Amino acid sequence: MANVKKSGVSIRRVARSDIDTVLAIDRKISGEQGLVTYRDMVTADLGGPLDLSFVAEANGQVVGFIWCRLAYVGIPIIEVALTHMMVVDPDYQGQGIAGKLVNALLDYCQAEEIETVRMVVGERNTRLQHFFERLGFHRSALINYTKTFEN
Ligand SMILES: CC(C)(COP(=O)(O)OP(=O)(O)OC[C@H]1O[C@@H](n2cnc3c(N)ncnc32)[C@H](O)[C@@H]1OP(=O)(O)O)[C@@H](O)C(=O)NCCC(=O)NCCS
Repeated sequence: MANVKKSGVSIRRVARSDIDTVLAIDRKISGEQGLVTYRDMVTADLGGPLDLSFVAEANGQVVGFIWCRLAYVGIPIIEVALTHMMVVDPDYQGQGIAGKLVNALLDYCQAEEIETVRMVVGERNTRLQHFFERLGFHRSALINYTKTFEN
């Protein structure tokens, strides 16, 4: 566990040069394979015009990441900030960093008049549901229907 120093946590927009650090945090959490790859992030144009991702820095290093992207979905089509992933370095968890990342995203979207911010949370992940509820989110009326094709 590493405590955040007095200088605190700063949040900024992601840059393409953050990709390696973000992948390292992902591997720290999910093992050698990681959940995302360099290719995923480059293809998603991290730091590009539709990107809404933020990183958290503490003690001079990137320790957290929220990966979000502007999308146009639904009928009528609306502009939505869709979050793909949020991770905080295990050494820095439990110090409010994820909350700061989400709040930075919300502030940015509000300033840019992006009126909907959407998170996808597992139905059984009540801990994460409460986290988002504390930040002002509410459960929406949309249900995901998924069909997958196994190889
Ligand atoms: C979820 C996560 C981003 C929280 O980061 P954090 O900086 O520790 O979060 P904060 O300190 O701002 O807030 C703590 C809250 O996060 C939530 N949280 C923390 N760990 C969690 C976990 N393993 N599962 C679900 N929610 C969790 C809880 O609501 C917690 O509040 P609580 O302790 O009162 O229950 C971090 O635990 C993480 O990276 N987990 C692995 C990746 C993940 O599950 N991401 C979310 C889905 S994309």
